[in-house]
Parts: sequence; C-alpha cells; structure tokens
Amino acid sequence: MEKTMKINGKQVSFTDEANLLEVIRKAGIELPTFCYHSELSVYGACRMCLVEDDNGRIMAACSTPPRPGMSIRTHTERLIRQRRVTLELLLANHDRECTTCVKSGNCRLQELANILGIGEIRFGQKNGRLPIDDSSPAIVRDPNKCILCGDCVRMCEEVQGVGVLGFAYRGSNAKVVPPFNKNISEVNCVDCGQCAAVCPTGALTIASHMEKVWSALHDPQKTVVAQIAPAVRVSLGEEFGLKPGTPATGKVVGALKKIGFDKVFDTCFAADVTAIEESCEFLERISKNQRLPQFTSCCPAWVKYVELHYPQYKDNISTCRSPQQMFGSLMKGIYAKAIGTDSENIFVVSIMPCTAKKSEAKREEFFKNGVPDVDAVLTTQELARIIREAGVVFDEVEEMPFDMPLGFATGGGIIFGGSKGVATAVMRVIGKEPDFKTDKDNPNIKTAEIDYNARKIKVATVSGLGNAKKLLEDLRAGNKYYDLIEVMACSGGCIGGGGQPQPNSNDIRKSRKQGLFGHEKLMQLKSPLENPVIKDLYKDNLGEPGSAKAHAMLHTTYTNRKRINESICFFEEQLNTAKKRVVKVCVGTCCYLSGAYDLFSTLKDKLSQEDFKDKVELAATFCFENCTQSPCVMVDDVLIGEATVEKVINEILKQTAVQ
Ligand code: SF4
Ligand code: SF4
Ligand code: SF4
Ligand code: FES
Ligand code: FES
Repeated sequence: MEKTMKINGKQVSFTDEANLLEVIRKAGIELPTFCYHSELSVYGACRMCLVEDDNGRIMAACSTPPRPGMSIRTHTERLIRQRRVTLELLLANHDRECTTCVKSGNCRLQELANILGIGEIRFGQKNGRLPIDDSSPAIVRDPNKCILCGDCVRMCEEVQGVGVLGFAYRGSNAKVVPPFNKNISEVNCVDCGQCAAVCPTGALTIASHMEKVWSALHDPQKTVVAQIAPAVRVSLGEEFGLKPGTPATGKVVGALKKIGFDKVFDTCFAADVTAIEESCEFLERISKNQRLPQFTSCCPAWVKYVELHYPQYKDNISTCRSPQQMFGSLMKGIYAKAIGTDSENIFVVSIMPCTAKKSEAKREEFFKNGVPDVDAVLTTQELARIIREAGVVFDEVEEMPFDMPLGFATGGGIIFGGSKGVATAVMRVIGKEPDFKTDKDNPNIKTAEIDYNARKIKVATVSGLGNAKKLLEDLRAGNKYYDLIEVMACSGGCIGGGGQPQPNSNDIRKSRKQGLFGHEKLMQLKSPLENPVIKDLYKDNLGEPGSAKAHAMLHTTYTNRKRINESICFFEEQLNTAKKRVVKVCVGTCCYLSGAYDLFSTLKDKLSQEDFKDKVELAATFCFENCTQSPCVMVDDVLIGEATVEKVINEILKQTAVQ
C-alpha cells in the first residue's frame, strides 16, 4: 500500500522501503553513507546519513523505518555541520596518503571529503602506523586506512558465512582485525575478496600482480599470453563509462594486444573442457552411486571453504581443475609449441573477476618442476589500471578477435561466468538443458530435475558462501538431496567476483549477468561437445574424456585444511577413562593460536613412549575459560596455564608420585 511522508517539505510516497534512506534515495536525494549496504544488515555507526525531523530530532536515516506523515529534512545547516565534523574526525584518524593509495579515485572517503568540501582537518593526525598485512595471496589489509564502518565484517559473516573479520578493542583503540590480531593468511579466510569489494576506503584492497605482468611484458624472452574469464568481458567497460553488462570482448582483446600481449585467448575454451570432464566424472559417479552429490570445482574460494570448514565433503568436489588451471596446464603442456614457444618461456596471465584465483594459481598442485601453470592473475580492476597505465585510450581501441586455437568457445563455456552457468554447461554435455526454478524452501537455491536414463537427476545451484553453508547443513541433516550442486562463492557467480569493478551491487550484477547470458544466446554452438578445437584436443592428445592423460593434465586433489585434524586428535567424549591420568589439551581459539595444536602433537609423541603408554590418556577439548593464560592443559583436575610439554610431564609425574 502506498503511504506518504514529507522530505524537505515535499510530499513523497513510499511502500515497503525498509528505512528512510531508501525513501530519500528513491526521491532522488543523495545522502552520504559509509556503513549502509542494502545487502547487509543495518549497522548505523558512521553517522553520515543523519536527518532531522520538524522537532529538531536527529536520527540515522539508514536505521529509521519510514512512517506515514513523517516530515524530515536532509541538508539543514546543523546536519551539514555535523557531517563535516564526523568526516573530519574520520580523516584525522586516517592515513591520508591518497597520492600513493591504490583506491585513490574510487574511494568513498575521498569522494565524500570532496562533496562535503572538507578543506582542512582541525583535529591533528593520529600518531603511529600499524603494520600492513599483505600475507594473503588475495587481499591486502591496511588498518591505517580503516574507518570502522564494519562493512567487511558483515560481508564476511553475513553473506559469506566465514566470519574471520571482527571488531577488537574499544574507544579510540577500536580496530577491525582477524581473530587475535593474526594475519589474514593465518585464519580461515577463503580469499573471495568480497570484503575488499565493499570496503569504502583503501583499508582492504586486492593483492596486485601488476608489477609481475609488466616485467614479463618487458622481457623479450617471454611469450606473454592472456586468458580472459567470461565475466570480465561484461564488466570491464564499467571502468571506462560503459553500462554494466555491455559486452566488450573485442575491445578487451584489442587493448591487451596494444599493451603488448603476444596472444590473447579465451578462458571459455577451457570452461568447455571443464564441462566435458566434469560431466564424464558425474556420469561415472551416478553409475556407481558414489561420491554424490558432486560439487562443482571451478570456484577456488568454494574449494578452500570446503577444505577449511567442511572437509568431510572434500571427496564430493569434482576433481576437475578450474577453467583457469585447465587453461594453464593445456597452454604450457600442449599448446606452447603450437604458438612457437616452449613451456619455460611462456608467461600465462589470467584476467579474472576473482581474487581467489590469485590464491588458486599458487596451490602447489598447479606447479610443475617449480613452475606455475598460471604465472600471474589480474583482476578486472587491475586490467583497467594496466590499460590506463599503458596509455591506451579504451574508447578508441579497435576490436579484435581472440587468437586461435584457444580462443574458440561455445555458449556453454561463456555462461560459466554467472550462477547456474556451470551446471547448465555440464548438463548440456549429457544432452539436457536444465530449467531451473527457485527452491520452495530457500529462495537462494535454484533447482532442476532432469530425466536421464530412466532416473531423475536432481541439480541445484547456489551462490554466496553463506547460502552454500545453509545448503551443506541441510545435506548434513538429511533434509535435502541433490546429485549435482554448483556452488559459486560470490553472489550471482563470478560476475559478482571480488575483483570486479566497484560498485558491485545487486542491480549491477544482474545487468552483467543479462549481458553475459544475452551474448550467449547469439552463439550458434551451445554444447561444449560441439567445440571443434576440443574435439581435436581429445583426438590428438588426450584420448577420451576422463582418460589417464586427461586426469593427469586436467584434474587435481584436495586437502583437509581444518585446523584440527580429527584423524590424529580425538575429543573428550572418546576418552578411555580406564587409564590413570587424563590429560586434556584445550584447542579453543585462544589456545590454538598460542600453539596448542603443536603442544598436542608433541605430547602425543611423548605420551606414547614406554613410560607413559597405557597409563595416560590424551584428548583435545575446548575452552577452560582461562584464555588469558593460553595454551591451557588440564592434568586430571589441575589446570596448567601457559602450558609447555615440560610443565605437563612434571604435573603427570607429580600426580603419579602422590598416588
Ligand atoms: S576474502 Fe572473503 S573470507 Fe577472506 S576476509 Fe574477505 S570476505 Fe572474509
Ligand atoms: S576495513 Fe574497510 S570495510 Fe572494513 S571496517 Fe575498515 S573501512 Fe570499513
Ligand atoms: S564465484 Fe567466481 S569470482 Fe567468486 S570466488 Fe568463485 S571463482 Fe572467484
Ligand atoms: S549509513 Fe547510516 S549510519 Fe552509516
Ligand atoms: S581457548 Fe583455551 S582456555 Fe579458552
């Protein structure tokens, strides 16, 4: 039902908007915000979106629901003054080295300082610099540039279900940090980059491979080849003023050629290969009724999520490498010769919408003799910067076709860039076109049923790791069953990847997806099986899909990365209390971070020696609520803080002597 309220003296109608901010923006008035994101919960902390009612009451528009008959003002003298003071305070606490900040020109703080006309900061500058955390292969964290908006915290927790960023300390010491102020590489981050995608400042940015790429381009020995992921072609244009979703494939190829790339190929070619290998694997699992459901494997953030959080499902992931890695392996292993070079002198650059692909390229499984299959990964954002750095005027770039043979792809490979694309391509290989519908119990899951050889194949697709987590829990509880499940870590699939141009909002993602799937509609060949270059690849090199050679080049293995490896560490419930002494090592978060796991392993070795064997039972347990003295160990009823192997052994001996 339509209701009305007054904004700046004008009647404005509204219906089901969740807050005043949405109504104000719908009325064409822009309010500054840092901590509001329509896809995240409302935090209401930055105080930039303040409005004033007729009684002079000030409220945050993002956290106030609209009411019929309300009358508010958005830009009174008082509000403008207040916003300026808030912004000045933020700037005073901020490392203002804009000239060297990678976010400069696309930074919300910089933008609002300009819009609000901040000419000077009257509150001085915070002393001391905090260390920059560049330990992650995907993102860089510069706490000196954090304005504590909490967007990354909510993104990581609410949308991605990972929750490795949080607020710590109080007042002026407050910070956003990984648990216990650890480096990001030491916690369960899956490298999706979604935190950096919502960070309004340069506090979270993408780990850059640009220098590596420039060095290769300037090295006359190197043949530098690019592969372009499907999602990049419908988003790069945003960096140069095109509407989201506008396909710019030919321009991307042309720009890369101008920059100096020797060959430009299409990752969609490798996506076609992925779909063929993955459907072959799927049919085998179906026929043996083994390792079902089969999860797709082309999203490295999802793969890492399973390895870290749900390792019991690691064998359900398809063993197919992602298209990026299949491309690298085929390029260096087979096609280098075809383009007149060899695997030592070829430098493979992936152009991806994704930060997790940077981490994937560094996995040891994807190195041969110390050389990576993929040498560098540039995100769409980095590609735009490299184009500008090279002085290429994007508008004037002449469109060019991909190089052959790895530039040939079918529609199946193209749609890998959006959610439902991978599952659709895999089904096309078995001759079916799934018709996805929204799941009646969970609107974030799309499902389809396919009739295949007198059985029904149930397919599901989900994007956003938080949604995937719910699906995993349903599978675990036996509430749901599917045969094939496509999971993409980023909302909407790779078109919403952490390396895509910002903003990366829901509407923009929809436009990119329409652009990609619209482009696919125009393609004549839909099934990856129809790709003539791939037919030759199997005929001349790989044999059949799923062959030993295909496995060696195109498949991989996964690792249980859960921080407590249950195979060597058992928990309290499994204790054999018939033994005399019981030693419990706390593996709660504090103790784990203080070395409890190493302590456990060493104790395990010591206590299996002759003196203690059959006399002492060792188990892991959770928090003794003595975290400030971690790591903690309990020997029978005696709690040992700041435990060491020596302290524990002494306590065991002491108690044994007393008996
Ligand atoms: S990269 Fe993804 S998992 Fe890692 S901190 Fe950011 S949002 Fe969380
Ligand atoms: S790191 Fe970025 S997104 Fe996170 S709280 Fe700081 S400014 Fe906000
Ligand atoms: S969904 Fe795509 S962009 Fe996002 S992490 Fe996975 S592979 Fe990367
Ligand atoms: S946007 Fe409303 S308080 Fe931050
Ligand atoms: S985590 Fe070990 S005592 Fe709290």
